[in-house]
Amino acid sequence: MARRFLGPWLVLVWFAGSTAWAQADAASAGKVEQAVSQALEKARAAATALTQALMGELMKHMREGGPEAAVSVCSAKAQEITKAQQQEGVLVRRVTARPRNPQNRPDDYEQAMLVLMEHRYRKDKTASEVSDWYLEGETLTVRYLRPIVIGEMCLACHGDRQRMKPAVREFLTQHYPEDQAVGYQAGDFRGAVSVTVKTTLPPEPQKP
Ligand code: HEC
Repeated sequence: MARRFLGPWLVLVWFAGSTAWAQADAASAGKVEQAVSQALEKARAAATALTQALMGELMKHMREGGPEAAVSVCSAKAQEITKAQQQEGVLVRRVTARPRNPQNRPDDYEQAMLVLMEHRYRKDKTASEVSDWYLEGETLTVRYLRPIVIGEMCLACHGDRQRMKPAVREFLTQHYPEDQAVGYQAGDFRGAVSVTVKTTLPPEPQKP
């Protein structure tokens, strides 16, 4: 007999319990979602800042002394400019499957995303960003990649070796004996600006 009365009660208790859980889950999902979108904004800003800093330097020296002058400045300053852009919890760099500087080789995640981005780009010529995130305890990691495509101006140092100015070709042979970043054409997929943002989730609001 007792069982008959207990049944509905158990269902009720279970229901009440699960709504409380669902609410807690929704609150923490909202918290994660917000943290992810903030981290993504940070990643986008860091990618833009690095691109602008590098392009500013490149354009200035291309104008002043042509590719012969710009190539040595680029070579000497690219890593320095990249390091200057790092902030606490934000790592930003350029990566490519065909590096000139071996320091710009991708890690496993970046490698997989470069393959995906290049595949999409070849298919429909859209170069769009990709991102992912994961949680380890309260630490949120967001990974973000923004594609880099070759333009006409890039060919002076990344195009056909035979068409480069001899001084540029010599400089590259001397400084980058394993250079893979040549032979591109305008419109080719080149690589990506890669940003990793690490942040701690805000604590749960205290219950009154
Ligand atoms: C004046 C020569 C020059 C021009 C023009 C130039 N680059 Fe480069 N680029 C270099 C050098 C030198 C490096 C290696 C820098 C280093 O040692 O980190 C490099 C490295 C890179 C890298 C980093 C990956 C790697 O292979 O090491 C990317 C991405 C890149 N260039 C893209 C471009 C794009 C896109 C353009 C056109 C908008 C461009 N470059 C124009 C000289 C040039």
